[in-house]
Amino acid sequence: MPEILTGPALYAFVRALPKAELHVHLVGSASLPTVLTLAGRRPSAGVPTEPAALADFFTYQDFPHFLKVYAAVSSLVRDGRDIHTLVTGLAADLAAQNARYAEVTVTPYSHLRAGMPGDELLTGLATGCAAALAEHGVELAWCFDIPGEDGLEAAEETTVFALRERPDGLVSLGLGGPELGVGRAQFAPYFTRAREAGLHSVPHAGETTGPATIWSALHDLGAERIGHGTSCTDDPALLNYLALHRIPLEVCPTSNVATRQVPSLAGHPIRRMLDHGVLVTLNTDDPPMFGATLNGEYAAVAEALGLATTEVARLAANAVNASFMSAGRKTELTAEIQRMMLQDPSSFA
Ligand code: HPA
Ligand code: ZN
Repeated sequence: MPEILTGPALYAFVRALPKAELHVHLVGSASLPTVLTLAGRRPSAGVPTEPAALADFFTYQDFPHFLKVYAAVSSLVRDGRDIHTLVTGLAADLAAQNARYAEVTVTPYSHLRAGMPGDELLTGLATGCAAALAEHGVELAWCFDIPGEDGLEAAEETTVFALRERPDGLVSLGLGGPELGVGRAQFAPYFTRAREAGLHSVPHAGETTGPATIWSALHDLGAERIGHGTSCTDDPALLNYLALHRIPLEVCPTSNVATRQVPSLAGHPIRRMLDHGVLVTLNTDDPPMFGATLNGEYAAVAEALGLATTEVARLAANAVNASFMSAGRKTELTAEIQRMMLQDPSSFA
């Protein structure tokens, strides 16, 4: 009889699961105290310096409004020290969620445009990554993403920077920002170059537009995972394709509610994704900006869908499986999750 846990017992089970986070933006991961500190250093950037006003600032009318707020926070990040602060802050937060590994989306174009020298960005990432492992036991990898709103110039600069610098831990090329009016296909040459150089393709698609964008990400960009992919449930053929080809979705439920892409967690199409056998992973996107935590995502989805502990553990295993971590690390973490599946769920009560 599968065991369904709720409340604190469910949370204890989720907490004990070793987890991988596959969709988190570096700037969007800044904790509230970090944002307040950075905003205090640059009061003219338009980001509130008081906690209550910041909470208000982090309430979104719609997706374009969220992107505006995100850009304002990004403009606070000016040098290598800020990058190091972001990376180590994220690592501490990941460790508190018992996340062992994360692929972190970094948008070099935004930082370079804001005047940060490329080597400061790279040094901040490298020193932050080393500290993440040494101080928090968290392994970090990078996804460099193209901010879609900045078009082909951003695509060119991001791809050239990624392939020229090729920093340790860089595993993928991404594509973020708005989808409406920013077709995926125009970015095909950049994704081709990146894939030929050995980077994986992980664009956002189907977060704010329909299934056609996801098809385009698959066909034009060779997407190996889809950022969000929420609208795939509008197209049964696409659901079948994703399941058959085992293309994982980086689902970010709380983000989708906060940016008003879905009405509520209960109204999220995640149940239909799972019922179709799609490889679903749970992620936070921009955790403090959405009031999300990784454990909170697992617990909320498990409660909303009435998942058994084995199904919750499978979501954690999906993320390990869908990640670009080493085969050895995948085997270790999968074995750890399997051991938890065998544990008596009532021991978490
Ligand atoms: N979608 C697109 N762009 C973004 C996001 C997102 O969820 N978060 C930060 N930039
Ligand atoms: Zn995202």
